[in-house]
Amino acid sequence: PKAEQIKIRDSVASRGKRVKVSGWVHRLRVQGKDMMFAVLRDGSGYLQCVLTGNLCHSYDAITLTIESTITVYGIIHPLPEGKTAPDNHELVVDYWELVGKAPEGEEAFNSKVSSEADPSYLLDNRHLVLRTETYASIFRARAKVIKAFRDHYESRGYTEVTPPCMVQTQVEGGSTLFEFNYYGENAYLTQSSQLYLETCLPALGDVFCLAESYRAEKSHTRRHLSEYSHLEAEMAFVSFDQFLERLEDMICDTIDRVWADAPTRELIEQLNPTFQPPSRPFMRMKYADAITYLKEHDIKKEDGSYYQFGEDIPEAPERAMTDQINRPIFLTHFPAHIKAFYMQRCPDDREVTESVDVLMPGVGEIVGGSMRMDNLDELVAAYKKEGIDPTPYYWYTDQRKYGTSPHGGYGLGVERFLAWLLNRYTVRDTSLYPRYPGRCAP
Ligand code: 4AD
Ligand code: MG
Repeated sequence: PKAEQIKIRDSVASRGKRVKVSGWVHRLRVQGKDMMFAVLRDGSGYLQCVLTGNLCHSYDAITLTIESTITVYGIIHPLPEGKTAPDNHELVVDYWELVGKAPEGEEAFNSKVSSEADPSYLLDNRHLVLRTETYASIFRARAKVIKAFRDHYESRGYTEVTPPCMVQTQVEGGSTLFEFNYYGENAYLTQSSQLYLETCLPALGDVFCLAESYRAEKSHTRRHLSEYSHLEAEMAFVSFDQFLERLEDMICDTIDRVWADAPTRELIEQLNPTFQPPSRPFMRMKYADAITYLKEHDIKKEDGSYYQFGEDIPEAPERAMTDQINRPIFLTHFPAHIKAFYMQRCPDDREVTESVDVLMPGVGEIVGGSMRMDNLDELVAAYKKEGIDPTPYYWYTDQRKYGTSPHGGYGLGVERFLAWLLNRYTVRDTSLYPRYPGRCAP
């Protein structure tokens, strides 16, 4: 009988009918001369196939390797009691063809992706490592999370925009800019789309974007990439408190959405078995109280002294504190001089800003955001203080001339969010092809 070509995800519905399935040999088990079990993978699922008798005797069958591509024909039968396979069924093959053979010996797939291999060797072979179940699950979960972010913003009335990645302004300080030659002019890869989002408020109202951001980071840490996916949002006519509420709502509603979707929840539980959606409200802590916390819990600098008000809290103490508290933290009110030039000062204490970092156990900062300076004179003074030439920022400055408004926004590092959600040690695990100093390939 004619076979219907199916994807493995539809295999349950296709039981009993003769089907044709193409995919990669994910696992292979030879049992004597007359029986082979191949678990086939096509990206939509896994399907056990049994080959018997003559089907196992051909040259192609004898030399079949993991990661070879094959097409199989046959009927899917439920498994007898006591046997296990994906979806509790197997395809009994009556005909099959080799499409592409994968190498054996030294070049064999398993030696390229061995979990014992050096991490940098595995990153050289990232294109193959992606095929393993863990990484396939990570990137499947990532796609679902990104969809949930978008669904959240859509449901709250935000408009998605696509700002440019090639720019001539900095946002987060000159030291991490990637510079390049743009038809003979200096240009940069964007560090953040924030300034562009701000210009969209008067046209579109609340906006968000998901774009790549670039940072020439000198720090080799488990949470820094040179290119990362940056989810940013901007909101007009909000107070600082409303801004914090909206940010908390975004994080919690996104998690609720992925958690409510059974297949996505299964992926998360498989990668991070103890995960529980965090409870609201998130803990609110001022920067000044974090300095006190560090002192009280004896978290010190490398030289043995304590962090003082006004100093940046680096990654290690920040994570030590977050891990001890072991729940999400909104760390607010950072001193102005350790933060970016555009941040709004607090009306009752001009030394500190209406700013927030969201800290998550295991990762630390996953979000940075603030209210924006909306007064023209203050902004002009801030450029000067920072040593920024205002000329290329004329369009940003115009936002304060043509109908200014109280507004604020934030940026979330998607790889860091996923490292927290999926319990990965490093953001290199949640980026498809991570870039960091020393690696720009594959
Ligand atoms: O804290 P950052 O630098 O803030 C901004 O860029 C703001 N302009 C965002 C805004 O208000 N629209 O970056 C925001 C987030 C960080 O909290 C972190 O999660 C992530 O971006 N991030 C990085 N992720 C991976 N690798 C890096 N090198 C990152 N730098 C920042
Ligand atoms: Mg930050």
